[in-house]
Amino acid sequence: MSRFDLSRRDLLGLGLAAGGGLWRPHPARAETTLPLTPACRDGDEPTPAQTEGPYFTPDSPERTDLVVDGVDGPRTALTGFVRDRTCRPIAGALLDLWHCDADGRYDNQGFRLRGHQFTDEKGFFGFQTIVPGLYPGRTRHFHIKVQAPGGDILTTQLYFPGEPGNKSDRIFDEALLLHIAFPFAGPVASFEFVLGRA
Ligand SMILES: [Fe+2]
Repeated sequence: MSRFDLSRRDLLGLGLAAGGGLWRPHPARAETTLPLTPACRDGDEPTPAQTEGPYFTPDSPERTDLVVDGVDGPRTALTGFVRDRTCRPIAGALLDLWHCDADGRYDNQGFRLRGHQFTDEKGFFGFQTIVPGLYPGRTRHFHIKVQAPGGDILTTQLYFPGEPGNKSDRIFDEALLLHIAFPFAGPVASFEFVLGRA
């Protein structure tokens, strides 16, 4: 059974019924129904690491909703699960998310569009945020760090399917593609992290 069966309660818990501006990926790649990923397979490869880049700020606030303080842009949820290579959910895993605003700018003075949270007992996490904009040299992406309790930190990035810049981005990795669905008014971008802990 897939670990990616996002329940209606999970999604409502993120306030997805609120809707907001819609962003839609390339129609050919858009998913319209859940579930979002193939079933978990024992021994799946761990989620690949990627460069942190120059804009990480430590000690972000703990929160699920990053759309605060005048943040503007098309809304999206970023949800998913954290599990180990034997398909066991990892509760209490830290997820620290940061990304640029709709104009491609990072807040390097404060914590706009930065925040962290911990997975629940099912390994589930969920952020409310906006779709990152574009800046020169990169395709559209989120930055995120994921750490099981007492485990190593996975630093990586997440990408949007159907994004024109994916082909020319030097570090793009299709293993880090988000799944996009539209279960309610707005998009839900989701990803299942597999940590190397056996
Ligand atoms: Fe970036």
